[in-house]
Amino acid sequence: MYSQIQTAQHVYDVRTPDYEKSWHPDYTTRLMKLAPLHEGDKVLVPCCGTGLESFMAAEAVGPHGLVVGVDVSEGMLKEARARQSREAALAPRLRFIHHDAASLGTCTELGELEGKFDLLICSNAFVLFRDPAGVVRGWRGWVRDGGRMIIDIVHEKSFVPGVVIEKVMAQLGVAWPWNRAWARGRDSFKEILESEGMQVEVIELLNTKSEQPVLSYGVDQADEQFESVAESGFACNVRWQGDQRERAKDLFRKEWESIAMDGKVEAVNALYVYVARKI
Ligand SMILES: C[S@@+](CC[C@H](N)C(=O)[O-])C[C@H]1O[C@@H](n2cnc3c(N)ncnc32)[C@H](O)[C@@H]1O
Repeated sequence: MYSQIQTAQHVYDVRTPDYEKSWHPDYTTRLMKLAPLHEGDKVLVPCCGTGLESFMAAEAVGPHGLVVGVDVSEGMLKEARARQSREAALAPRLRFIHHDAASLGTCTELGELEGKFDLLICSNAFVLFRDPAGVVRGWRGWVRDGGRMIIDIVHEKSFVPGVVIEKVMAQLGVAWPWNRAWARGRDSFKEILESEGMQVEVIELLNTKSEQPVLSYGVDQADEQFESVAESGFACNVRWQGDQRERAKDLFRKEWESIAMDGKVEAVNALYVYVARKI
């Protein structure tokens, strides 16, 4: 059966060596300026990856704070733990745990920390979850009353080939490893947070790269973009049946042409960042 976790493990184990050569470190530095962090805080970081947010949080919380990162990719965690062993001053405040962030209730290593975290940080991962409201509901239980979450959600026009393939696969009834269809604009995640007992305090649009936030593809790039996403690691668990791949390519081209304006498909390389307080 298709597994979001197996796909994430595969994709991020493969990406680990080059992960921090990408735009992520620069983006995370800007994201963390929005994180409400204080000395002594306890911080939970679901989908922590190589620990970009975790190490910055560990600096901010000081020697009496605690930062717990959770991830399913052994490759990413290995990188985080290697850095932890190099950073002697921060190491005692950091823990990295291998677990599914969507089911923290079964994570025995989190022990007595339920309802104790001052802040939860999840960056560049949330649209990998099938049930966004259910995940917020589960995470809310780990945050203390009055504690906060900072979570980013990709802009609806970010990585447009990804938006199009998800739509096409849904039409074909084939599972795809991310779930962005619900994220239609700035208010989509605000509504989910509010419906799960979180008061939204900040919404900010942050570009993935400091330069070139808007770019466009040509309408004639449909097939090339389809091949690129259909051959990516994210498709590793897709089992194409019969002529499904050809049909998907055809549907992708039609959808791509329908969203083009003046021969161009516009993309916005940005994420909405939400800071919300548990009420
Ligand atoms: C794009 S990386 C982001 C890493 C880090 N938050 C950052 O911004 O650098 C996405 C991470 O989510 C992790 N991930 C995906 N699904 C997960 C799940 N169900 N539970 C825990 N981690 C998951 C992946 O293994 C990967 O490390």
